Amino acid sequence: MGDTKQLAQTYTVVNNTQYDAGLFLLDRLALEPGMRVLDVGCGPGNITAHLANLVGERGEVVGIDPSAERIALAQETIRSRKNLTFHAGSAEDLSRFPDASFDILYCNSTLHWVADQPGALREFGRVLKTGGRLGVSGQSGDFVAAHQRIKDEVLARAPYRDYDHDVAGEPRFLKQQEMGALLDAAGFGGRTFTINKISKSTKDGAEMVDWLASSSSGKTYGGVPVDMRPRVREEMIAEWDKMTKDGLTMELDLLVTVATKA
Ligand SMILES: C[S@@+](CC[C@H](N)C(=O)[O-])C[C@H]1O[C@@H](n2cnc3c(N)ncnc32)[C@H](O)[C@@H]1O
Repeated sequence: MGDTKQLAQTYTVVNNTQYDAGLFLLDRLALEPGMRVLDVGCGPGNITAHLANLVGERGEVVGIDPSAERIALAQETIRSRKNLTFHAGSAEDLSRFPDASFDILYCNSTLHWVADQPGALREFGRVLKTGGRLGVSGQSGDFVAAHQRIKDEVLARAPYRDYDHDVAGEPRFLKQQEMGALLDAAGFGGRTFTINKISKSTKDGAEMVDWLASSSSGKTYGGVPVDMRPRVREEMIAEWDKMTKDGLTMELDLLVTVATKA
């Protein structure tokens, strides 16, 4: 899927922005000791480990992620415990889990990478118990961030435009209305939407591009071959550095959804 061990390792040291967004989501989910939680798109597992602390020994947390590199890191670096396990897997196929087997489904900074979002929401609804809660946080589709403009601009240049960037998996940021429709179709009842306004600050363009690349498992570079990524990276950095003056700040609106399984 375009991920590399290096991108996965970089993500573990730069994901404080996603970690803080994950805590904001968590505040709205009211986790309790003894609950069973599924963390979909758990990445390197540091937030997943925090969830396991909150549910305690009587509870259980399972993290899944399609990136073999990120699951390997989670298994290597997070000390394994009786109440915390990691598995390779994707949001669209939760068939390893029975119906109604979780109290909470947690999905932070991930749903925009999922190719079949309606299918994933149906799976989330299936594995949640009645009254169970779904929490999703990710960039809002009602907002266009600077990283999207720069990516589109650079990948439209020769020779990058000759590659199929859709095949590599473009992110699909959901608008609030689209999220509402997906929840209706997947059998969710009550829901709340909150906009979490955040900003990502870096010292320069290079740090911003490296954060975007590791956060997107390389998809920042669209469908260009891995050996061409350093060239794309330099051109993206040049665009970001036009905006860099005593550092760089990118504003982002996150759509935070909490919905109850009817
Ligand atoms: C930005 S990271 C977020 C990781 C973690 N949730 C966090 O907040 O730090 C996005 C994660 O989504 C995962 N991902 C991509 N496609 C996915 C899919 N179809 N199902 C589940 N996870 C997916 C990636 O492998 C990556 O680990």
